[in-house]
Amino acid sequence: MKQKTVGFFSRHTFSTSEENWNGRFEWYEKMRKASPITYNEEEKCWDIFLYEDIEAIIKNKEIFSSQRPVQQGEPNILSLDPPRHTQLRSLVSKAFTPRELNLWKPRIEQITENLIDDMKGKATFDLIKDLAYPLPVMVIADILGVPEEDMGDFKRWSDLLVAGPEDPTEEALQRLQKLRTQSITEMDTYFEEIIKYKRTHPKEDIISILIDAEIEGQKLTDGEIVSFCRLLLAAGNETTTNLIGNTMYGLLEEPSHYQELQQNPEYITLAIEEGLRYRSPVQALHRIAKEDKEIKGQNIRKGDSVTLWIGSANRDENKFENANHFIINRKPNPHLSFGKGIHFCLGAPLARMEGQIAFEQLTKKFSKICIPHNFELLPIQSAFVFGLKEFPLEGQE
Ligand code: HEM
Repeated sequence: MKQKTVGFFSRHTFSTSEENWNGRFEWYEKMRKASPITYNEEEKCWDIFLYEDIEAIIKNKEIFSSQRPVQQGEPNILSLDPPRHTQLRSLVSKAFTPRELNLWKPRIEQITENLIDDMKGKATFDLIKDLAYPLPVMVIADILGVPEEDMGDFKRWSDLLVAGPEDPTEEALQRLQKLRTQSITEMDTYFEEIIKYKRTHPKEDIISILIDAEIEGQKLTDGEIVSFCRLLLAAGNETTTNLIGNTMYGLLEEPSHYQELQQNPEYITLAIEEGLRYRSPVQALHRIAKEDKEIKGQNIRKGDSVTLWIGSANRDENKFENANHFIINRKPNPHLSFGKGIHFCLGAPLARMEGQIAFEQLTKKFSKICIPHNFELLPIQSAFVFGLKEFPLEGQE
């Protein structure tokens, strides 16, 4: 597998769609066997491929920090260590518990139903554009308390936050970074205005909760609130889109799966977990070593950055039987797709609920779904975010 050095977050690129979509799993397998803890001399960066090593590093928050250089604005919880991480996370964690999220269920069902109704008349629909993208954006817009009409902007911003460079050159990376900077500035201005408005017109939404919150008697700064909003918008969008797209892809690769799901709706929860494991929407996490640490004879030094390939951990044969097979009702399924430990994905219950509702309704409303013969694989150009840009499908009611 081709790896190219193009900067802190985008070191790894896959040169073709095929390499990105399928070849990466062969690369992971090769690395798990040949060199599961590999040092990239030029970058002072480690690539880690085995489940047990990745799990141990994620759990070891004392040595492996989530802090990273912030390009713009305030750091968000994803890139903070305790105690600030714990304090900020606790402000919103209540809003994301399964119990609290159940209040949103009828609304999510309604949004899903409307989107699927619009898909039904079409000879070919695009699962990404017609359902998997708008659903999570509309839901998070509601939870944050911002207008759904601004979805077009949200899409543009979140796409740029997670995109990889078009090609592995320094110029392409610089072009991307310029666009990213612009879109972060736009996003920040947008949220600053919303915050200003909500200060005088509070409602029961997350932005109002953050405006009102205090940590040890101190209010959050506007910068901290903006960066929280930015994270919630970006973290929940593309990832959930890809959960739905990638799970559907796994189901349709084996023609009998879709029918099996229709006949056994109780498998939907399990199929979503398998979709998460098999083609994880987030393929890698980052950490930085705060101290020297030896793992299996390899000496990770203070300051080294570490890339944890959770997409590889999820295919580790030592953890999962038949790891390279999509098993619709796999149980147990201890995948690492939502991370683990203190940074475990805050939105996991929401993403699961959205996926569940989407597949419940799809399997009810379409008796059959097929991939068209002229299907062209178009994966997102990123080593870390994994999914399809487009997923045209033929559905029969
Ligand atoms: C953290 C994946 C959906 C909000 C994470 C992490 C992963 C992840 C792997 C841990 C990162 C690390 O340890 O460095 C996913 C996937 C999703 C998804 C695969 C969908 C299938 C969502 C949604 C939201 C969300 C819907 C919010 C609405 C967050 C936040 C964090 C996070 C705020 C940071 C938590 C912390 O640092 O304490 N997510 N996520 N995610 N996710 Fe998600």
